[in-house]
Amino acid sequence: MTKPILLVTRRLPPHVEARAARDYAARLTASDTPIPDIVARAAGASAIICCPGDQLDAATIAALPASVKVIATFSVGYDHVDVAAALARGIAVCNTPNVLSVATAECAMLLMLAAARRAGEGERMIRAGAWAGWAPTQLLGTGIAGRRLGIFGLGRIGREVATMARGFGMTVHYHDIARLPPELEQGATYHVSEASFLPVCDVLTLHAPGGDGTRAWLDASRIAQLPRGAVVVNAARGSLIDDMALIAALRSGQVAAAGLDVFNNEPRLDPGYLTLENVVLLPHLGSATVATRDAMGFLALDGIDTILAGRTPGNLVL
Ligand code: DGY
Repeated sequence: MTKPILLVTRRLPPHVEARAARDYAARLTASDTPIPDIVARAAGASAIICCPGDQLDAATIAALPASVKVIATFSVGYDHVDVAAALARGIAVCNTPNVLSVATAECAMLLMLAAARRAGEGERMIRAGAWAGWAPTQLLGTGIAGRRLGIFGLGRIGREVATMARGFGMTVHYHDIARLPPELEQGATYHVSEASFLPVCDVLTLHAPGGDGTRAWLDASRIAQLPRGAVVVNAARGSLIDDMALIAALRSGQVAAAGLDVFNNEPRLDPGYLTLENVVLLPHLGSATVATRDAMGFLALDGIDTILAGRTPGNLVL
């Protein structure tokens, strides 16, 4: 029996590529950056695995061959896929929820601690050969123990962050479109309004989805409602932040420090960030552990297998 054709738009971890090649006529690529010609390469394909950074917009989806039955994104976020356009063409869309929640939450904690304790500045000082030795006033930051953590979006990743932050002695507050049941809140304080939420965020961490509904959510007016000297963390989507507003706040001290793993227009982030000492920058590493990336690939393939078998997978995006 001939295997269905699977187009993969980016180089994937070896175990994932091996399974793809075992079960499909897999069109793999050695490219770590988006390939320009998804539509042409999809000729005859039944399925596509895409990644953040690929633009599966309405025009691209409209141009895909009729053979394509499923697009699985190698990510939990699917703001780069026009899901409505896919559904209109009868193409199912899958993503990779759950398996990356802990890794992404770890990354948020890494950014939180690095920003609050000025780890980036310290590392740069040592590498520049500028460290003259221990000094009582050197690179004083703020601790996170005893501080109030505000989580914007208490979904799967936000809840993992809450668990970790409690271990660091933080109290947890959150704002979301609806209040969660107590077993998911785990004692976190819900704020129905931003006006009540923002002023308690000594540290604000963003865990909402990207896309039009949350675009530039953290803007100048919301930043002004944070306590002066707050720390901002973003391991969700760059589109949640108005860069000009955050850069101005990092310059003025309204925001003492930020830790960012994601950016508008990746990889061409706003160059204003590069001029600031008080921001820690990572290259979208949230889910970047060996085990997590394997699990993401296997889940994407599970979704494709299930769709092509005529069933509904648990990781179907609706
Ligand atoms: C996601 O899954 O959406 C991340 O941004 C990449 O792991």
